[in-house]
Amino acid sequence: MFLEDIKMETKAILKGMSLEEKADLLMGTSAWYTKGYDKYNIPSIRMSDGPYGLRIVNDVSLKGEEATCFPPLVTLANTFDPEMAFEMGVALGEECQEKKVNMLLGPAINIKRSPLGGRNFEYLSEDPYLTGRMATEYVNGLQSQGVGACVKHFCLNNEENYRFTAESGVDERAMYEIYLKPFQMVIKGSNPKGLMASYNRFNGEKVVESSRLLIQVARNEFNFAGVMVSDWGATTDREKSLVAGLDLEMPGDDKFSKELLVNAIKNKTLDMGAIDRSCQRIIALADELKSSEIPNYKCDYQAHHKIAISIAAEGAVLLKNNGSVLPLKKGENVCLIGAMCKNMRFEGAGSSKVTPLHLVQPIDALKAYGIFPYEAGYKLYDHKVNKELEDAAIRVASRSDKVIFFGGTPSIDESEGYDKKSISLPENQLSLLNRLAKELDKPIVVVLFGGAPIELPFNDEVSAILAMYLPGEGGGQACSELLFGEVNPSGRLAETWPIKLEDVPCYNYYDESPDLTEYRESIYVGYRYYQKANVKVRYPFGHGLSYTKFKYSNITIRRKEDKFYLSFKLKNIGTSAGSEVVQVYVGHEDTAVFKAKRELVRFSKVFLNAGEEKKMSFTLTKNDFGYYNIKERHYVVEAGLYTIELGKSSDDIFYNKSIKVPSEESSSSPYQTNKIHTYFAPSSNLFPEDEFAYIIGKKYSSKRVGVLPLTINSVLSDFRYTFWGRFLYRIAIHIFKKEVKKAEKCSDPNLKEIKISEALSMMNQIPNVTIGMASSIDNKKLPHEVAEGIVMFANGKVFTGLRKVLFHK
Ligand code: BGC
Repeated sequence: MFLEDIKMETKAILKGMSLEEKADLLMGTSAWYTKGYDKYNIPSIRMSDGPYGLRIVNDVSLKGEEATCFPPLVTLANTFDPEMAFEMGVALGEECQEKKVNMLLGPAINIKRSPLGGRNFEYLSEDPYLTGRMATEYVNGLQSQGVGACVKHFCLNNEENYRFTAESGVDERAMYEIYLKPFQMVIKGSNPKGLMASYNRFNGEKVVESSRLLIQVARNEFNFAGVMVSDWGATTDREKSLVAGLDLEMPGDDKFSKELLVNAIKNKTLDMGAIDRSCQRIIALADELKSSEIPNYKCDYQAHHKIAISIAAEGAVLLKNNGSVLPLKKGENVCLIGAMCKNMRFEGAGSSKVTPLHLVQPIDALKAYGIFPYEAGYKLYDHKVNKELEDAAIRVASRSDKVIFFGGTPSIDESEGYDKKSISLPENQLSLLNRLAKELDKPIVVVLFGGAPIELPFNDEVSAILAMYLPGEGGGQACSELLFGEVNPSGRLAETWPIKLEDVPCYNYYDESPDLTEYRESIYVGYRYYQKANVKVRYPFGHGLSYTKFKYSNITIRRKEDKFYLSFKLKNIGTSAGSEVVQVYVGHEDTAVFKAKRELVRFSKVFLNAGEEKKMSFTLTKNDFGYYNIKERHYVVEAGLYTIELGKSSDDIFYNKSIKVPSEESSSSPYQTNKIHTYFAPSSNLFPEDEFAYIIGKKYSSKRVGVLPLTINSVLSDFRYTFWGRFLYRIAIHIFKKEVKKAEKCSDPNLKEIKISEALSMMNQIPNVTIGMASSIDNKKLPHEVAEGIVMFANGKVFTGLRKVLFHK
């Protein structure tokens, strides 16, 4: 059928549907399904989290059916290999087909503004171009299987604390160049079927109610043609969100939302056109995805396990390797120290959590290479120093020639729903490492697991560091192959590792209050900041070592019309096969606009056998030199001198050439230099309030707004400002403390750790949750009227509130 015929048919269906039926179509029927109508031939479609494996659950609980747990996107990004992202997308699509999932909730492509971000493990990078390219291929792979991608979280959702309430105060330039760019690239490059609108607020409105973002930016500027879906529980005013362009409310089955829509039509405050437009999109999506289902599809889980292992291997980053202590040779007298050797962190926590089909721990995979003594040395759940465990580890280590230490960020420290408090390793791991280094004179190899950069105060004391990040279910296998050189490390950091947390560009402004988070650093995110402000880092963006060496030669740059052609030869001059990540940056010093020192514009991963040589070429176009002009509201190119650079990382540039870029545009800088000295030459991570007010075009009040009276959109931590609110808050904490206690009684030691971490993780989220969100997530358990009653009660209207709670309709 042609598109026009489909549209005609949908119009006819809509004519026959009642208002109530349409209202139901605009929301899910449960957490994972849209509404279907046999009589109108409208199928229901199924969704599932995402993004690095399927989490098939029948309610909103966290444990799902078993599925391949691929490495989280943080690790995928380190591969710098879009083909690998495509392959992962295809494999995920196949699992969706088998389980009859029509749309996967992913990829998650928010920019990593701070390493404290609780959900950074789900995101790709601090760099928008890398994020955009990897995500585009992931979506292309997934959608090639007839499964839709719901790209999330659109947009400016870069922190977990206060994600339901905080306004992201960002200037338009940073918004377009850093935070929106990956979405723009993915929409253009892969036409995703869905876009998930995030919880947070922007410019005084909730994102789900912002027509500026959902209609003007996503649809009109970026040409998004799919269905706009709310994040789960983000919608509290369905009329407003519908008018703003939000098609589908999830999880839905929300009596309150339905009444709002029906009454709005009856009272003529809402136009039926808005309802029909969204219904039409949902019907088109359901028709398309349902007709792409392959009956009785069975996928090859063994093949998927292998893909998971290869992404883990390609995504691991060898940060340091003094004296070529790695790779290990078979027969070497090494010992394995650290509880994470037996229980590695392999994935994140929250809605993305996958129940792996085939989990391989390092300790098991390493058996293929020899018999190695093992000692835990520290406890995973309890971070206190345990002298007995340490002594045992030192004893074992003293008898071997090399120590392989396994450590990393414990799962409780890294989860959706709240941000991290630090990026340091727990006290017990630091203490053990310190003793190993001080008491023994042996090479130490540190293997790290975790979803974000970690402070490395022990960097100079150890010989090698292999950052496995979160390697998914095959992590143990990948790790052993890397340690023994069966696979050559080729991952590169998709984010900067700072020396200490205080160095982070947004350190002074991140996660400020439940109402506001000011993005004062503007475009200076990640390496863009460290380089501009000359702040030393531990390991730069793009860094990663290999067991072999590569040589670049015959580098030339030619210009033809408005394009630049960069070409060179790349040779593997070492003795083992391996992959190089070629990184092309563009720099622009002579500019009337404040800019980063350099920006990544191209990259490519190339595999070469020892001695092999390959010709490489890249084409740069006008777009690679543009910046977003906030006055003209589009990208412009300043004429002038730029540099095209080749680097081993953003800090290790081994080739650069000045080129003259012409421009037909007559635009001028939107900034007066004397008003924003700091942005032109930042020397620290302090960005003055008045300069920020200038670039953002308004001044935020430093006073918190709207703490009292409490509303259904107040965070629970604000409930502590009233007597009765405090009472309710304590009850909530008490309930979750009881859950933790229950978990502590679990007799299975492995399950115990998992259960305790899950209960603690839920408890950590309490302060950030809103009653409105909770009600919208599960309107049956917490009807809107009850939610309102609770808020009244907390505001001191004890009896009216109680009456509403007890006698609601
Ligand atoms: C998360 C989404 C997720 C959804 C469904 C939300 O809390 O932010 O990423 O897809 O839940 O589980």
